[in-house]
Amino acid sequence: MNEISSAAIIELALDLANSLTTKDRFNRLLDTVRKVITCDAVVLLSHQTGTLKPLALQGLSRDTLGRRFLVKENPRFEVLCKSSEPVRFAADSPLPDPYDGLLNNRAGDLPVHACMGLPLYFDEQFLGLLTIDSLTPHVFDNIPERTLVLISAIAAATLNTALMIEQLESKAQHSQEVVAELTKAAWQREGGELIGESEVMNQLKQELDIVAPSDFNILIYGDTGVGKELVARTLHQNSLRKTGPMVYVNCAALPENLVESELFGHVKGAFTGADKNRAGKFLLAHGGTLFLDEIGELPLSAQSKILRAIQSKEIQPVGKDNVEHVDVRILAATNRDLKEEVQEGHFRADLYHRLSVYPIRVPRLEERHGDVQLLSGFFIEQTKRKLGVKQLKIEPAAILYLERYNWPGNVRELEHVISRAALKAKARQKLSTVIVISIDDLGALVSENNHNADNTVTPEVMPSMPPAQLDCSLRDATDAFQRQLIIAALEQEHSNWAAAARRLNTDRANLNRMAKRLNIKVLKQVF
Ligand SMILES: Nc1ncnc2c1ncn2[C@@H]1O[C@H](COP(=O)(O)OP(=O)(O)OP(=O)(O)O)[C@@H](O)[C@H]1O
Ligand SMILES: [Mg+2]
Repeated sequence: MNEISSAAIIELALDLANSLTTKDRFNRLLDTVRKVITCDAVVLLSHQTGTLKPLALQGLSRDTLGRRFLVKENPRFEVLCKSSEPVRFAADSPLPDPYDGLLNNRAGDLPVHACMGLPLYFDEQFLGLLTIDSLTPHVFDNIPERTLVLISAIAAATLNTALMIEQLESKAQHSQEVVAELTKAAWQREGGELIGESEVMNQLKQELDIVAPSDFNILIYGDTGVGKELVARTLHQNSLRKTGPMVYVNCAALPENLVESELFGHVKGAFTGADKNRAGKFLLAHGGTLFLDEIGELPLSAQSKILRAIQSKEIQPVGKDNVEHVDVRILAATNRDLKEEVQEGHFRADLYHRLSVYPIRVPRLEERHGDVQLLSGFFIEQTKRKLGVKQLKIEPAAILYLERYNWPGNVRELEHVISRAALKAKARQKLSTVIVISIDDLGALVSENNHNADNTVTPEVMPSMPPAQLDCSLRDATDAFQRQLIIAALEQEHSNWAAAARRLNTDRANLNRMAKRLNIKVLKQVF
């Protein structure tokens, strides 16, 4: 048997370097072993907690790949695992052979044969074994020790590389799963569902179904608090990128001098304070979605930088010489009228066109007929959980009151109103298991964005609530309020007294009595 030639080593090194997959690497390794050592079977096994797992083999039946050998049950393996050097078993060794009956083209027990094993160590760590068998006894006797040491070293390095790649791949896979899980969790925290059955909401949902799986950049626009962020998260969750990250950037909060570093990253030492390399938002969103919230607030200088990145799909971290390729889908949101901003020169027309390949308008709550009740139910259930109360309900009259308001702060305002009211109701009804939100708990509806004079609830319903009326008697104010509420209920129920009574959580006789006392005359009584 010859000493392994330098040519064979170089050839193997090149082969291994060119191999793309682990399987490929293992097979090339076994090919080389067979070129250097004449044998009938060669097996590469990895070792983990007392078990040997065949990773690649030649000359044995394929089912061997599925076998797991417990070291302590296989004396030959036990000897090999304890050794730090190649071991040649005597041809007549009485130790049972784990490959008995597994050799290709040979049924039954193995006869007297040549058998050896090379323990594989890398960095003093035991990784596994390479076993070599031949049906010709004594055939391994004259192989130079140096050849075996070299083969062991090459096999150990190959195995180590494969195990490292496997570990890295599983780490990468794990990180990707974590990102997908966190993105999904953020979406679910927001509710994860666009509540609403109104015509405009159904239209919106249909649009989202159509554009989500596309890779279009989308501009989401609409008033404050309508749910633009929730729409963006829904788009990501329903896109082909949903297992990738969704990275959030609040453009309004980007300091102008840090825009570039925030978006594109920087290298260590690029500027004072840059004490380590940092990936920018574009790179973090690679393979996923970049959500540019409040895009209308972005200064013009930053707009051109973003435009360049979107056009070229490349970014250049601050202080780095070369560019990096990035694959991101952009979703942008604004409550400004961007077209108008473009006309006034505050927003770049070219960026506007790039972003709004498919613009989506999220309607105001006022436009979503019938949705206030559904959304109230959704927020009541959410608040119930947050407050840890057993049951939380709302009076029909209170719902009616909410339905008559114009909601300038949209869904967010409704969410806050419900949370506040629930807290008040809970404080009032400390001992009850069922907490009921009453109209009083809602208070006077005045939007948090108090700049709009129309923010208070419509005067037909709540004439007596504003402070100007405080000097009238409580009795008069209550009467006026009840009167308006009853009229509103009758209007909504098309003068159906029984339905109006149900809405107000009272019975029909009582409603009739009150109406009489309050001098309410309704033209037509249906029932
Ligand atoms: N259709 C909906 N169903 C359930 N929850 C909603 C819906 N729309 C909005 N919300 C909730 O209302 C709140 C406000 O929504 P969001 O933050 O998405 O609004 P926005 O349009 O981004 O507001 P802003 O303009 O102030 O940034 C969030 O808590 C969101 O989960
Ligand atoms: Mg928002």
